[in-house]
Amino acid sequence: MTLPVWATAESDSQAAEQAMRYLASDDVILDRQLFPCDIRATGAHVRGLATIGALTNEDAERVNTSLEHLAAEFTDGRFVLDERYEDGHSAIEAYLTADLGDLGKRIHLGRSRNDQALVATRLFMRESLVRTRASILSCARAALELAQANEMTPMPGYTHLQRAVPSSVGLWMASYAEAFADDAELIDATLAWIDRCPLGAAAGYGVNLPLDREGVAQDLGFARLQLNPMAAQASRGKHEVQTLGTLWQAMQTLRRLGWDLTMFASSEFGFIEMPDAMTTGSSIMPNKRNPDVAELFRASAGVVAGAMTEIQQIVSLPSGYHRDLQLTKAPLLRAIRTAQESLALAPSLIQGLRINADRCRAAIDRSMHATDMTVEMALAGVPFRDAYRKLKDDGVDRDDLTPEDSLQARTSLGACANLGLDDLRARIDSLATV
Ligand code: ARG
Repeated sequence: MTLPVWATAESDSQAAEQAMRYLASDDVILDRQLFPCDIRATGAHVRGLATIGALTNEDAERVNTSLEHLAAEFTDGRFVLDERYEDGHSAIEAYLTADLGDLGKRIHLGRSRNDQALVATRLFMRESLVRTRASILSCARAALELAQANEMTPMPGYTHLQRAVPSSVGLWMASYAEAFADDAELIDATLAWIDRCPLGAAAGYGVNLPLDREGVAQDLGFARLQLNPMAAQASRGKHEVQTLGTLWQAMQTLRRLGWDLTMFASSEFGFIEMPDAMTTGSSIMPNKRNPDVAELFRASAGVVAGAMTEIQQIVSLPSGYHRDLQLTKAPLLRAIRTAQESLALAPSLIQGLRINADRCRAAIDRSMHATDMTVEMALAGVPFRDAYRKLKDDGVDRDDLTPEDSLQARTSLGACANLGLDDLRARIDSLATV
């Protein structure tokens, strides 16, 4: 009978078995997500071995054909990666050995599971960032459409959650279009930064072979090589933190949106309604529709930040590989998945928002024109501070002021009457064509 994970071992053999399970933990299950990347990198490594004559070209081709079968069988479920294997890395070698005999046992020449884990994770982060970037741009577009459709719809601008000045739905939504465009641009910066191949570092000190490291890096589509094997090894965790930090920025934008939406959808504001598909009913209160999706957007930013912190704590290590690094995998994968799922769903929520223009406009009260009036008085020659004082003392004593007039007067670039939506659209389009 196997010992439950929480029980104390009573014999050496039980302790050994328990230690094995502790070391393996759920690593092999997590490796399912990295497996296609690991297979790809293995193919490139093997082609690299052929380039330097450490394998024949025919053998390298046979391995690559077998790797293609493995990838296909993994995708359609004929090959299952589970606890029969210590990790995805050993599973690849076991498959090749079962399929090709001795040839399968030759492929680990010149590499270590350390650089294998590094390269698979690197490829996975690259793919994840590219996919998430597309979702972020969809968010930007959806926000831009809503801004365009409600360009001059008045709504209050708040500071400290207090009514401040007249503003517009257009300005509010364009702020998200721009923030998401910034987030997509940051992904490009991070993609460029992590775009380097660690393969050839082996266990962290290189090997006694003239490996074609540059060729292998090119084969995998990397822009460049991580030159120093120790630096490559030490970058595990570092690139993960950068990737999550970048995704966190987009999630932070989404969190703010989640906040705004939950607040503005409440009866107290009543500015917007969320699409039915994005709200849920209550199990006890028949009158409720709850904004759970927007709430999970908000919480998910915290999940990504938490995972990033987890990795930051784990990589407090001296040079060289340490098994500690294995534990960076779970938070990385969890956070990437959370960010991806949130950002993929967000465009539908934004597209489905209904704006209650009457409620938005009605929330702009007369006093909110005070700041506009100080500006008008200043333009008529009254020193600004004196105008400010007068409005503070006397309040707004006119009732001919409308939110529409206030918006029309805001003509500087980026402001309500001059949102620059075409420029914003051009920016988003150009990000989308890269
Ligand atoms: N699962 C391990 C990890 O993610 C693979 C590398 C194991 N290397 C080692 N030297 N024990 O780090």
